[in-house]
Amino acid sequence: MARRLAWVSGLALALSGAPTLAQSAVSSASEAVAPRTTLLLHTDRAGPRIAPEIYGQFVEHLGRGVYEGIWVGEDSQIPNTRGIRNDVTQALRQVKVPAIRWPGGCFADGYHWRDGIRPRAKRPRGINAAWGNTPDRNAFGTHEFMDFLGQIGAKSFISVNVGSGSVREADEWLRYMTAPAESSAGAERAANGHAAAWDVPYVGVGNESWGCGGNMTPETYVAQYRQYAANLRTFHGDPVKLIAVGADTDDYEWTEKVMAGAMKWRPNPTPLAYIDTKPLMWGLSLHFYTFTGNDWYAKGRNVGFGRDDWAKALGRAQLTDEMVRRHSAIMDRYDPEKKVALVVDEWGAWFNSEKDAPSALYLESTLRDAVIAGLSLNIFNNHAERVRMANIAQMVNVIQSLILTRGKEMVVTPTWHVFDLYKVHQGATQVPVDVDTPDYVQGTTRLPTVSASASRDAAGKLHVSIVNLDPDKPAPVEMVATGLSGRRAQASAITADRIDRKVEFGQPDPFLPQPVQGIAIDGDRLTLTVPARSVTMVTVE
Ligand code: AHR
Repeated sequence: MARRLAWVSGLALALSGAPTLAQSAVSSASEAVAPRTTLLLHTDRAGPRIAPEIYGQFVEHLGRGVYEGIWVGEDSQIPNTRGIRNDVTQALRQVKVPAIRWPGGCFADGYHWRDGIRPRAKRPRGINAAWGNTPDRNAFGTHEFMDFLGQIGAKSFISVNVGSGSVREADEWLRYMTAPAESSAGAERAANGHAAAWDVPYVGVGNESWGCGGNMTPETYVAQYRQYAANLRTFHGDPVKLIAVGADTDDYEWTEKVMAGAMKWRPNPTPLAYIDTKPLMWGLSLHFYTFTGNDWYAKGRNVGFGRDDWAKALGRAQLTDEMVRRHSAIMDRYDPEKKVALVVDEWGAWFNSEKDAPSALYLESTLRDAVIAGLSLNIFNNHAERVRMANIAQMVNVIQSLILTRGKEMVVTPTWHVFDLYKVHQGATQVPVDVDTPDYVQGTTRLPTVSASASRDAAGKLHVSIVNLDPDKPAPVEMVATGLSGRRAQASAITADRIDRKVEFGQPDPFLPQPVQGIAIDGDRLTLTVPARSVTMVTVE
C-alpha cells in the first residue's frame, strides 16, 4: 500500500544528499524542478498479487462503442475477421486485456439476450432506449462478443438484466452459454454455430440498480440479488463469480446495506441450523468517474482546458483513493478476511463531449487522460488486497477510450499507452511503497505531486510506475529499496509538450513513450527525474 508521509521540505532536502546524475542533467538544462520525492519500496514485504483483471475493460452498446468501434460486419471494406475489425483487435492484444464487461452499463438492464443469437438477418431491429433511442440491429450478440474475446484473449464479464429482465431470463442465458451441447440449451447454441460451451467466469447481477438499472433502494436490490444468487450458475469451467451492484461514488450507505443483506447466505442463522459460510457474492462493484471537479452537471471540457481544470480533474481522480479506502473499510467489517472483491467496474474520465462529437459520449483524448489513468491504476494496484477487478469506461469511442476510430481510421489514445506501459503489473506481486512528496498547488487544489505503485514480476524484475501531476516541473525522485545494488534500470515516460495535447487522426502519435535518461543507482538508492505532466515506468532487473 502506498502511504503518503507528511512532507517536510527540510527533511526532504536532508534526505536528498549530493546532486545525482539525473539532477545535474536536468539542472544543466536550467529547468525548474519540483522538490525531491522519496519512494520507500518495501521489497522485503510481499504484498498481495495484483489481479490482472484490474486492467479490465468495459464495452457498452453506446454511441460507436460497439458498432464501428468493434463490429463492422463481414462485408465491410475495413479489414475484419468475422465482422470484427482487425486493427482494433491487434491494438487490444498488445495491451493484454484480461476481461471485458458487456453489454452495459445502462444498456444491460434493457437487453434481452435472445435478440442477439439467431442468424443475423433474422435478428430483431432493436432500439437502444438507454442511449438516445438509436437503432440496434442486434448484429453484435453473444456469439460475436465471445468471438471478440477469443480474438484478443480476454475473459467474459456478462452483465445480466435485472432492471427489465428476470431470474429465469438470466439463468437461461447462462445455460445457453455454458451448458453441454447434449442439453437443450447447449443444443440451441450449437445450432447457432458454437457447439463448445464458453467460459463465463464473471457475471454482474444488474447495473446501477440504484439508478438506470431499476431505481431500487438498497433493500429492494438486496432482495433481488439474493434471488438471482440462488439461481445463477454456470455449467462449464470454474464456478461463476457473481458481482453485486455496488455504490455510486460516495454512497456508503449502499455498500453498508448490500454487505449486511446480501453477502451471507443467511444473515441471521439460528444457532443449530446449517449455514453455508461461502459469501453469496464474489465481488461488489463501485462506479466512480472523474470530471473537472465534483459536479456531475458541470463535467468540464475535454479539450482546450487550462491549468485550473487540469488540477481540478486530477483532484477528482485522486479521490479514487478515498472511495476505495472508505468502501473497503465498510466491507472489512462484514468481511474481515477480504473474500469479497471490490470491483471498480466503471471508472475513468468523463468530460462534456464537444458539440461536433461524432457520436454519443465520444471524447477526444489528451495527455490529462493518461495522467488520470496512471494515477487511478496506481491507486488500484496499491489496494490490490481488496480491488481485484476494474473496468475502464469504455474501451472504444466512448468516454475514456483506449482506441478511437473514424471510419476505416484508428488511433490509440494516451490511455492505451498507459495500459501498455502498466501491463507488467498484471499478475505481479505488489511491493508496498511509502511516498514522500511535496504538494502540487494550483488555485484551491492541493495534491501530492507524485503518485507511485510498484510490483515484482515472476522473473524478479521490479516495476515502479510514477505519475508526476505537476504540469510544469520535472520531479526528481529517489527510490530507496534493499537489493538495488548492482542491478540495471531503465525507464520510459509518456508526456507531451502541452497538458491538453490530443491524439489526432492521420498525425504522428505524440504520446509514444520516450526513454528517461540519467538514472543512477548508488547502493540501495536509485535516482531519476521524471518529466513534468508524465506517466513513467521504471524497470529494475
Ligand atoms: O459508462 C456510461 C454509463 O455510465 C453507463 O451506462 C452507466 O452504468 C453509467 O452511469
